[in-house]
Amino acid sequence: MQTYRLALIGFGNVGQGFAEILRDRSADLAQRFDVQFQIVAVSTKRRGSVYDARGLDLAALLSAVTAPGGLESLPVQQRGWDPLRLIRESNAEVVVEVSPTDLQTAEPALSHVRAALEAGKHVVTANKGPVALAYAELAALARARGKTLGVEGTVMGGTPVLRLGQELLSAAGIHQMQGILNGTTNYILTQMENGATYAAALAEAQARGYAEADPTADVEGYDVAGKVVILANLFLGAGLTPAQVDRQGITQLTPDDIAAARAAGERWKLIGRVERQGGQLAASVRPTRLPLAHPLAGVSGAGNALTFSTDLLGDVTLAGAGAGRVETGYAILGDLLALHRQTRG
Ligand SMILES: NC(=O)c1ccc[n+]([C@@H]2O[C@H](COP(=O)([O-])OP(=O)(O)OC[C@H]3O[C@@H](n4cnc5c(N)ncnc54)[C@H](OP(=O)(O)O)[C@@H]3O)[C@@H](O)[C@H]2O)c1
Repeated sequence: MQTYRLALIGFGNVGQGFAEILRDRSADLAQRFDVQFQIVAVSTKRRGSVYDARGLDLAALLSAVTAPGGLESLPVQQRGWDPLRLIRESNAEVVVEVSPTDLQTAEPALSHVRAALEAGKHVVTANKGPVALAYAELAALARARGKTLGVEGTVMGGTPVLRLGQELLSAAGIHQMQGILNGTTNYILTQMENGATYAAALAEAQARGYAEADPTADVEGYDVAGKVVILANLFLGAGLTPAQVDRQGITQLTPDDIAAARAAGERWKLIGRVERQGGQLAASVRPTRLPLAHPLAGVSGAGNALTFSTDLLGDVTLAGAGAGRVETGYAILGDLLALHRQTRG
């Protein structure tokens, strides 16, 4: 049985969703894949930080994180280490970076990922910042150190769209990708089609926990722009930045626009797209009218989907969840199992 020791930087929705998967499925993973994942370190901003070289108890971690004393009430070897110290000095072999995304600076996640790779540790992350702003540098660093950089959770949560592109479509000649890459805006557009105003649909999305109190990153298209850049970085080898994406959100759409599309047998979707045009790349995020028969038009509610246009296979579309604590936790697990397959050879 191969054991991998993990340090989790961030223990919010995704970190906890991942820990719940391990708590509930460890026996199955051991039996089916001959592997065990042991969390040895967890770092948060306000709920404490813990490290125990012998491994942390998952059930105790999950109850302590929401208890008044936080993580540091646990009986462990070390408390209070900052993320960089945990990354450098713990015995973890893999750093799981799931702290909040910052699409302007990528920090502090970028420093965490860099430090982990420099310390000779594998990295798995769902954090868009470092992958959108510094993928080429980080991928080169990982290669130089012989480590892996797993990024599945950065686009479409746990739906394995990046693995589909990287492993199964890599020889098919991907030249364009377009998709619905933000569940919040797709939910709002679906509600507007059902007769809601933009304001009412946004309020409903906030009540259901899809939209943040400040919804700007979603509704103005910044989140999708970050994902479009990640797709360009991974599949088209392009050093795009989010600022280079021609971006428009959904805040200008009116009930009249929705009705006009419906009358024409079409539907509005917020489409993120990147394509190679000659030697150049064109990347955009834009509300787009699609005919109802279009594969992306049928994706409703908080769903996501991405179509790869390829030379050898034509269009290949994958649809599924775009976010969620367990769904994105599954992306972390998927990257770890890929690392395990690679290590075993
Ligand atoms: N939620 C999703 O469905 C989803 C989907 C795809 C990708 N992602 C990405 O996954 C990452 C995690 O998302 P989430 O929903 O789990 O976020 P979250 O619930 O806000 O949790 C973030 C965690 O990071 C901790 N943290 C904040 N600043 C930190 C710092 N400087 N150093 C170390 N830890 C720090 C927080 O500490 P406290 O606990 O003390 O606040 C919290 O534990 C984000 O980058 C997000 O964009 C999320």
